[in-house]
Amino acid sequence: MEESPIYIHYDESQVPEYILPDPLLLSDGTRVTDAQTWFERRRPEILRLFEQHVYGRAPGRPQGMTFRVTSVDEAALGGKATRKEVSVYFTGEDEGPRMDILIYLPNGRPRPTPLFVGLNFFGNHTIHPDPGITLSTQWMPDSQEHHVVNHRATEASRGTCAHNWPVERILERGYGLATIYYGDLDPDFDDGFQNGVHPLFYRPGQSRPDPDEWGAIGAWAWGLSRAMDYFETDDDIDHRRVAVMGHSRLGKTALWAGAQDTRFALVISNNSGCGGAALSRRRFGETVKAINTVFPHWFCENFKQYNDREDDLPVDQHMLLALIAPRPVYVASAAEDLWADPRGEFLSARHADAVYRLLGTDGLAADEMPGLNQPVMSTIGYHIRPGWHDVTEYDWERYLDFADIHLRGGQ
Ligand code: GCU
Repeated sequence: MEESPIYIHYDESQVPEYILPDPLLLSDGTRVTDAQTWFERRRPEILRLFEQHVYGRAPGRPQGMTFRVTSVDEAALGGKATRKEVSVYFTGEDEGPRMDILIYLPNGRPRPTPLFVGLNFFGNHTIHPDPGITLSTQWMPDSQEHHVVNHRATEASRGTCAHNWPVERILERGYGLATIYYGDLDPDFDDGFQNGVHPLFYRPGQSRPDPDEWGAIGAWAWGLSRAMDYFETDDDIDHRRVAVMGHSRLGKTALWAGAQDTRFALVISNNSGCGGAALSRRRFGETVKAINTVFPHWFCENFKQYNDREDDLPVDQHMLLALIAPRPVYVASAAEDLWADPRGEFLSARHADAVYRLLGTDGLAADEMPGLNQPVMSTIGYHIRPGWHDVTEYDWERYLDFADIHLRGGQ
């Protein structure tokens, strides 16, 4: 079949007319007018649609999974923090795939502590120069900036992502931080799902996920839920006040994790764009076809049917945000990050509002897109800041403010 070229536009006047699926209309045409119908009928319906057409179905918690605390330092970061490292053995066996969680908890604060958790791009050792963090030995993409040589981290890699992770500031404001290298779950390249966690769940004879089974984003999100399984066992962590956060592809992942797993009390999407917070039907910046072509392993195989056919999708991304309701969700955009379609991210939040209001919250307290640096702090939060695709200090300060309002009840 002749492939049409990938068409990208950055022009608001090129956005086609579109009709979004109504999150409050059941597939049989019945209108949802109460919370019970939402939770018992419509929410499960939408969740299934995202599984089947977008991210794929994921397995649950593996039966034999075990946790091992591999290090604890109660005087980390000059005494400010307790640092723990925890290995999660998915099959319970040392040789099987595992993920390593790095956790910082603020000292001198009441325990259990509320916590932010997020996946990182280049290994736990990159989020802070702290020499006590174990250097990742996993595959990662070669990078001069992160001193990754022959696909492995080096001592010089330490702290190279620290500008994205204001650890001291998070601790100062009374929160813990947990992070995991996303490549522990599935290295981010298209290998037909031979490495990472997918093969653990193949049926006899199966060699890649079925068209409606999880891709890489599904596996990364699954890992966040496995981290939550651990948090539930750690008395120092308040597992009822865990915020899941992610940037870009990991922002898509945070949203999908938060949508599926209601144990996450708050969800943050930083510049998540296409397949994250942005509405697919706008076809602004990155499109479904563009993402499926460049990253054929991120979504489930079925999602490729919607290349150039966004209007046929039974969902759009406002419904992903709606799955999180009534839990607080924060969507953040950057003005120059047109690839991620800031307006499309805002409009998703706007169109999730009806579900949030049905469930008795204040939804999104903005009808129009706010100006730069004018954060909206209602149950659906939103900001757009100047600048490029990145997680900045400004973004983190807003997430901490948002968590103060919605996780700590103003404490
Ligand atoms: C690419 C991709 C985006 C993604 C981003 C990232 O730009 O097209 O969808 O969000 O990478 O993860 O940094």
